[in-house]
Amino acid sequence: MQEFKPVKEGKVREIYDQGESLIMVATDRISAFDHILKNQITKKGAILTQMSRFWFDFTGDVVPNHMLSVDVKDMPVFFQNERFQGRSMLCRKLEMLPIECIVRGYITGSGWASYQENGTVCGIRLPEGLAESDRLPEPIYTPSTKAEIGLHDENISYERSVEILEGIYPGKGAGYAEQLRDKTIALYKKCAEYALTKGIIIADTKFEFGLDEQGNIVLGDEMLTPDSSRFWPLSGYEPGKGQPSFDKQFVRDWLKANPDNELLLPDEVVAKTADKYQEAYELLTGQPFAG
Ligand SMILES: Nc1ncnc2c1ncn2[C@@H]1O[C@H](COP(=O)(O)OP(=O)(O)OP(=O)(O)O)[C@@H](O)[C@H]1O
Ligand SMILES: [Mg+2]
Repeated sequence: MQEFKPVKEGKVREIYDQGESLIMVATDRISAFDHILKNQITKKGAILTQMSRFWFDFTGDVVPNHMLSVDVKDMPVFFQNERFQGRSMLCRKLEMLPIECIVRGYITGSGWASYQENGTVCGIRLPEGLAESDRLPEPIYTPSTKAEIGLHDENISYERSVEILEGIYPGKGAGYAEQLRDKTIALYKKCAEYALTKGIIIADTKFEFGLDEQGNIVLGDEMLTPDSSRFWPLSGYEPGKGQPSFDKQFVRDWLKANPDNELLLPDEVVAKTADKYQEAYELLTGQPFAG
């Protein structure tokens, strides 16, 4: 049997290169406050992979995406076992575009901080009188570029995204930037509206796109998971303050209450957090999580 080594290990995912395709494997690792914790959250990787799968299916008719299969039988023998089952996605390999496509439907986090200072979020002027966690009149597109390892991503204006893309693809920068923005907003609107009917607010999220061999823009990476988005419970939603995180609130609360934690959570917090991921999956898909 051929052995495979990940070509890349991100904070929570491992990427295996297959030439024309990639296998993205989500681990059970969890990060909080920019640190990877020592605990594994049981089934988290599988739940997030299946959640991405759900959204790719849900939006495939609007924007093409990179998903080929989540069945390990479609992957090399090396992947056909418990370790990879459920948590792996076979994807078309794309030429990724160096823009992180962020869309915000609610005002929170760094956006809220900047709005309080000068009434704008990433250079976009917003109406006066918004409260923290308020829903925005319309979702806004606030792209960023990926920073070197260890640094925070850098917010850029829409115009800068045109320049960056134009620098790599002369004559096509404006067209690509416009497509990224329009696809990002369209995907967010469709999915956030749907999630709301299931009791989950998707406050903001990030998409990544790439080009296929014909030069078409295709959605890649993970999609609308709590790792790439802010999920809030709809029940108890109340503007005027920060909202609890649907998935990580127990983790954050415990870490804050225990400053000398050494990034190790008690079993009880791990179990409650694992339940929240499963609950998010089941609410959104309407299906029991079979894993
Ligand atoms: N279809 C695809 N083809 C090629 N590369 C892809 C595809 N989908 C996603 N990628 C890339 O694969 C990588 C996934 O890495 P991963 O998200 O695990 O780590 P990271 O982005 O470096 O760090 P972080 O943990 O902060 O997300 C990203 O660089 C992403 O742009
Ligand atoms: Mg990433």
